[in-house]
Amino acid sequence: MVRITLDAGTGLRYGRGMDRLTLRRPDDWHLHLRDGAVLAAVAPDSARDFARAIVMPNLVPPVVTGAQAAAYRERIRAVLPAAGFTPLMTLYLTEDTDPEDVVAAHAAGLVTAVKLYPAGATTNSASGVRDFDRVRGVFEAMAGAGIPLLVHGEVTDADIDIFDREAVFIDRVLDPIRRATPGLRVVMEHITTAEAVGYVRADSSGRLGATITVHHLVINRNHILAGGIRPHYYCLPVAKRETHRVALVEAATGGDPRFFLGTDSAPHVDAAKETACGCAGCYTAPVAMPVLAHVFEAAGRLDRLEGFASLAGPAFYGLPVNEDRMTLVKSPEPWSPGARRESADGPVTIFDPGFPLHWRVQPS
Ligand code: NCD
Ligand code: ZN
Repeated sequence: MVRITLDAGTGLRYGRGMDRLTLRRPDDWHLHLRDGAVLAAVAPDSARDFARAIVMPNLVPPVVTGAQAAAYRERIRAVLPAAGFTPLMTLYLTEDTDPEDVVAAHAAGLVTAVKLYPAGATTNSASGVRDFDRVRGVFEAMAGAGIPLLVHGEVTDADIDIFDREAVFIDRVLDPIRRATPGLRVVMEHITTAEAVGYVRADSSGRLGATITVHHLVINRNHILAGGIRPHYYCLPVAKRETHRVALVEAATGGDPRFFLGTDSAPHVDAAKETACGCAGCYTAPVAMPVLAHVFEAAGRLDRLEGFASLAGPAFYGLPVNEDRMTLVKSPEPWSPGARRESADGPVTIFDPGFPLHWRVQPS
């Protein structure tokens, strides 16, 4: 096989047959690790492939103080080998959040960012924000200290169609917040619409980024609803129509560093998914990098996978890129991680992209 060096600076290489890709080890800028038995079952999947992850704080009860974030970080570390994976903790913003506590927790190295959930928007978001004016002081303090705000961008009004909730959030909530506190660094999490892609592209502040999940690059709303209801494709924000998926693929593979990987891998035990009122969330961690390799290859942009998964996120967060490397190998025989991860609380179904996985992470 002939090796072609595409970018000596980043170490990205692939052979002519495009059957091997070496890139800097990626990070996951949006991840749910849960707690207890599910944490123990799922954390190794992320730690195997990712060097760092922004860990979501939507436990029950949510992670709202620096001390709770530190304790949660210890519980994560306890189920993983001592080295090789760094959980970057977040605080769950409530209307009672004290600006000084946030700044102190960040200065102490306990938390990397703050997560905004509109109340009722998604799994375990009951403690989220209803009146955005009540958290204005926190936003000002975060802007002053350079702490990013990670936004679940959906309105929760019953009269707004669920497929419109992201676009409406941008106009009614996000844009006013950013105008009121222009110094605030914001990540629009798990974007799902062409409107969100356009909003990021139109920004000229240099303080706006967006994460894109693996599953939103693969599924549209038909996957959830056509030919039978498929709860393991149900997540929030819900997948939209195909034109939006295409816009997300263009954003992810287009080389714009404002778009970076946040898997939003969100495990729920099958009993909580396969029921009359199932939880939102796709468990993608075991297949995230192989599925991404497939998507980027199909777009003719395998050379941009490293930018999306390994370079753009650290650049936004002002962190160093990882020095170690990951190699993805493509083989004629498809590979599967199996259908489920077993946990002491029950099985967790792994995201099925709906196509055979020929790419695989080479064990290090
Ligand atoms: C997430 C979860 O289960 O915690 N669910 C999801 O569908 N993504 C919450 C979230 O990120 O909205
Ligand atoms: Zn999430």
